[in-house]
Amino acid sequence: MKISVVGTGYVGLVTGVSLSEIGHTVTCIDIDENKVNKMRQGKSPIYEPGLDEMMTKNIESNRLFFTTDHKQGFEGADVIYIAVGTPEKEDGSANLAFVEQVAKDIATNIKKDTIVVTKSTVPVGTNHKVKQIIHINLVNDVKVDIVSNPEFLKEGSAIEDSFHGDRIVVGSESAQAADIIEEINKPFGVTVYKTDIRSAEMIKYASNAFLATKISFINEISNICERVDANVEEVAEGMGMDKRIGSQFLKAGIGYGGSCFPKDTKALIQIAGNVDYEFELLKGVVNVNKKQQALLLNKLNERLPDLKGKRIALLGLAFKPNTDDMREAASIVVTENLIKAGAEIVAFDPIATENAKTLLSEKVNYAESAEEAIKGSDAALILTEWDEIKNVNREVFDTMNYPLVIDGRNCFKLEEMRERRVEYHSVGRPSINNDFKKIYA
Ligand code: UDX
Repeated sequence: MKISVVGTGYVGLVTGVSLSEIGHTVTCIDIDENKVNKMRQGKSPIYEPGLDEMMTKNIESNRLFFTTDHKQGFEGADVIYIAVGTPEKEDGSANLAFVEQVAKDIATNIKKDTIVVTKSTVPVGTNHKVKQIIHINLVNDVKVDIVSNPEFLKEGSAIEDSFHGDRIVVGSESAQAADIIEEINKPFGVTVYKTDIRSAEMIKYASNAFLATKISFINEISNICERVDANVEEVAEGMGMDKRIGSQFLKAGIGYGGSCFPKDTKALIQIAGNVDYEFELLKGVVNVNKKQQALLLNKLNERLPDLKGKRIALLGLAFKPNTDDMREAASIVVTENLIKAGAEIVAFDPIATENAKTLLSEKVNYAESAEEAIKGSDAALILTEWDEIKNVNREVFDTMNYPLVIDGRNCFKLEEMRERRVEYHSVGRPSINNDFKKIYA
């Protein structure tokens, strides 16, 4: 099959590369010339384990191409994937300008019957809009079928997810188009679930909203655990043994970030609002997440009310491990507030530092290792559970000005911290060596 993919963000690039890996000829189209030049050399603009190697292999096998020219990119394509961004507008709704522009480009360029597949996360009804735009603007007499094929990959394990996902959702009005998309995806060996277009669009939002709900739920449970001296990890494990609940996405922490959950939850609230339905539960989920992102600051404030001149180690800046993505990361809120309070920040992240420098205050200092950040600090805050942080040399806690560790990702065992004589506060678990407080303020 000859496939074109428009947009080489996370979703587009991983889709294009994975489809070429299973034998299709794929042309990825992006308007950013710099990016396209880099990708032609097998250099991915995003950090994703295994992606560069897979890109290079398929470029060398003449199965994977990159271009800035839509006309050239669409030439001879049997299937065109739309994978451009749908950023959040000020009111929380999804901005569809890029998707609509691609629909116009497709209509004015295609010369043969084509299946147009929407990968971008779009509100219910968008695929019908795409269909209308294409039909109004079609230049040649060709047949166009529309398919909704939402993406469920996770950053940091995107390649793994493409080949071992739980399902591939295909929404279409045409059984024939759905069959072709199923056939294209067959080598992935992932179950294909066929449905109508609107339900496919809804499955994406409902899935992300449900996962976000699970996270906010366990975060609230963790807040209660702290107040009743229970341990949220024990609670989550016991809950997760019930197959109806499931053990995944029950890790309490400092809230969800990234490019999907924050944006998609707000967009679904909007989608509901547009049809006069107030999604009360999801509004709660969003509010809880906002509060949870400030958890470490509150814990720190309680312990060190005056942060002026205090040296604070910030461990982990990305919204989760194995990515350099800083979008909606809790580290943004945390640094802003620490700087405002006059603290001196020494931050460490194994991968996201370059992105962080463009987003965070210039006042933030960066260390080359977790140990370097922690050394001589008055408190260490853990924001992302990178292996480099979980496996930090424990002796470094002895080199702190005072061994106060506030952990937003429950990276360490309580017993270990007790023995190390570290004052340790984590999420939804009892505080350790809390009685040292008296000697340090
Ligand atoms: C998510 C969805 O998982 C994926 O299916 C969708 O396509 C895009 O959005 P992603 O944003 O890459 O993927 O990351 P994910 O691993 O789901 O984590 C999202 C956020 O939730 C992170 O900030 C993570 O730290 C947080 N999280 C996740 C928790 O706090 N607790 C958990 O138990 C799981």
